[in-house]
Amino acid sequence: MITLEAMRAAWPQIGLRMLAVGHALPAAGPVPNSYLEKLVDTSDEWIVSRTGIKERYFCAEQQNVELAEAAAKEAMARAGVEAGQIGVCLVATFTPDRQSPSVACCLQQRLGLPEDAVMFDMNAACAGFLYGVQTARQILLAAPAERPYALVLGSETPSRVLDFTDRNTCVLFGDGAAAAVLELSAENPYYAVCGSRTDNEQMLFCTGLADDKPGVVHMQGQEVFRFAVDIIPHSIEQLLTKCGLQLADIDHVVCHQANNRIISHVVKKMHARPEQFFINLQHYGNTSSASIPLALNDMWEQGLLQRGQKVICVGFGAGFTWGACLLTW
Ligand code: ACO
Repeated sequence: MITLEAMRAAWPQIGLRMLAVGHALPAAGPVPNSYLEKLVDTSDEWIVSRTGIKERYFCAEQQNVELAEAAAKEAMARAGVEAGQIGVCLVATFTPDRQSPSVACCLQQRLGLPEDAVMFDMNAACAGFLYGVQTARQILLAAPAERPYALVLGSETPSRVLDFTDRNTCVLFGDGAAAAVLELSAENPYYAVCGSRTDNEQMLFCTGLADDKPGVVHMQGQEVFRFAVDIIPHSIEQLLTKCGLQLADIDHVVCHQANNRIISHVVKKMHARPEQFFINLQHYGNTSSASIPLALNDMWEQGLLQRGQKVICVGFGAGFTWGACLLTW
């Protein structure tokens, strides 16, 4: 009989392969900064210089689950994986259409996912996709042999929880979804670190059922900035130590796409090469848990991801939560 120690020793050798990614953006099309100039006292110049964001997408009629469905279908088609082969479907989101059922459960019928697959949403805010990949890896170990694939999504509609009279927040976020199809692999090493710290719930939160006005994002921008430029390098360094690599060994770093200035600060602090850090937030704003897979999707579509490359994904979110993982593409 295998011992607990033997199981723990084997665990790091169980790698993970991302077969494909897919994405979906609201059909209403991109919303430029000039649109927000009409709603609040702001300017394109202020938004671009403080954040790097030029445009984002907001859903009109579309729901979160519709974006999720389109992203999942694209990822599954690119991976050549059928619905019946999915053993676990996780949707990272802090903006589900309803309290319940989960977006993941609503996807079951739309995608024809099997009844014995595990399906749930998880809320780790902007770090949600990283928490999702980490969790899916563990669930895949117990999946039936005929269902060896995980579908992990970040799918968000922050436009539903923005106060469009608050210039501090409404210029920052955008809607979007992206999905990844994953399988366990002996050839693709995978390492991850995750954490959380809740010493100031007021720094970044979205009101809920216990609040007078549910569903509104609040943020202390400068505090979040300070936290981000501390925790991102910390997570990357922890991860590199765990896998015995240097930052110079890494082909791409995919940060949560919240703000250009946060990423530039991290590059400088870590003495990294700017071109290692992919940035696409100028087109989407901060799409929370969707931002990292959306970046992977754009990188793949632009031909930047080659099999065998080492990719670090790193993010942080309300909670605060954070995480980083090393994928061998
Ligand atoms: N347009 C014009 N002026 C604005 C806007 C806006 N959209 N938003 C705030 N201001 C004003 C403020 O009211 C303030 O005015 P005052 O001096 O008269 O009081 C002034 O700009 C400076 O405000 P600060 O908050 O000091 O601006 P700062 O330079 O810090 O930039 C920002 C704000 C961009 C939010 C920055 O703090 C930041 O990047 N924080 C990180 C937060 C972040 O990225 N959050 C994303 C969500 S978190 C997540 O993804 C996990």
